[in-house]
Amino acid sequence: MNPLILAFETSCDETAVAVVRGSEILSNVLSSQVDLHARFGGVVPEVAARAHVEAIRPLTHRALSLAGVHPDDLDGVAATCGPGLVGALLVGHSFAKATAWARQLPFIGIDHMEGHLMAPRLQYEGFRPPAVSLLASGGHSQIVLVKDWGEYEILGHSIDDAAGEAFDKLARAMGLGFPGGPAIDRAAEGGDPKAVEFPRALPERPFHFSFSGLKTSVVNFIEKAKASGDLPSLADVAASVQEAIVDVLVQKTFNAVDATGAKIVGGGGGVLANRRLRERFAEEADKRGVELALPDPILCTDNAAMIGIAGAHWLSEGRYSDWSEAVDPSRAL
Ligand code: KG4
Ligand code: ZN
Repeated sequence: MNPLILAFETSCDETAVAVVRGSEILSNVLSSQVDLHARFGGVVPEVAARAHVEAIRPLTHRALSLAGVHPDDLDGVAATCGPGLVGALLVGHSFAKATAWARQLPFIGIDHMEGHLMAPRLQYEGFRPPAVSLLASGGHSQIVLVKDWGEYEILGHSIDDAAGEAFDKLARAMGLGFPGGPAIDRAAEGGDPKAVEFPRALPERPFHFSFSGLKTSVVNFIEKAKASGDLPSLADVAASVQEAIVDVLVQKTFNAVDATGAKIVGGGGGVLANRRLRERFAEEADKRGVELALPDPILCTDNAAMIGIAGAHWLSEGRYSDWSEAVDPSRAL
């Protein structure tokens, strides 16, 4: 069964709507709030929720019309139920639930991180358990062993900042824009990743991350280098900072691949859009002869197609939510 699903993702600062049939994307549209939040240097929850309210109806019409689907044809409606910003989550979740209720369709609440975890299935038929996946976003950095769909073992996680948060904070410290990940990715172009050796934390723990110390060391380095008049180029500093984050993400993910003997490695979350990270993942997967299932960058950052495929999966298994389901801002996989 390949159910036809209308899916919503509004956990943070992107209003996203998609129509999928099983793992096939029929439409996948997004209204980004990046410009709205950029002047604050971060996402303002109340501003995000209001922008979702404005965008969600027209975006739903667009998604349905691009897919060439009439609401009568739908088999179910899915939406992110957490984790995320409570006001933002409530907009998509309530809108989706009301749409499902009005048409008496099943409603499927989806964990945002499970959406990222399932996203590779939109492009790789072979992405199935057992697999290892790196989830790295603004709020999470986790290495997950997918034993089965719905059966996830978190092998490692960040003990402080998430990788995306580290990119965002470091970009701010370097005077680059928001969001920081794409800004560092761009600034690092042509830079030497070995120009400055920033520390790699927690070498003694094979699957865990720590990124909070990196910011101090980058800030100290920039101050000292400026004082001595010997500051490397922005490209060199950005490439070195990026390498320090990417290095540990790659090393620890592949520690998990080696330890579990997984034959396929996936990834999801905004940080997996990083070009250097993708390059290093490809090298390490190639070395070991394991299959790499990294979705296109647009399917790594927040989107509704990933919520759609997770909704289609669970509906095919006969699982959907009760009408009383509430959003859960601090939900964990
Ligand atoms: O998954 P996501 O789109 O939203 C959350 O669920 O948080 O991830 C957003 C995070 C941000 O911290 C952003 O800076 C980071 O992903 N990010 C990147 C890149 N694109 C987005 N980090 C590094 N390189 C990128 N190209
Ligand atoms: Zn995300």
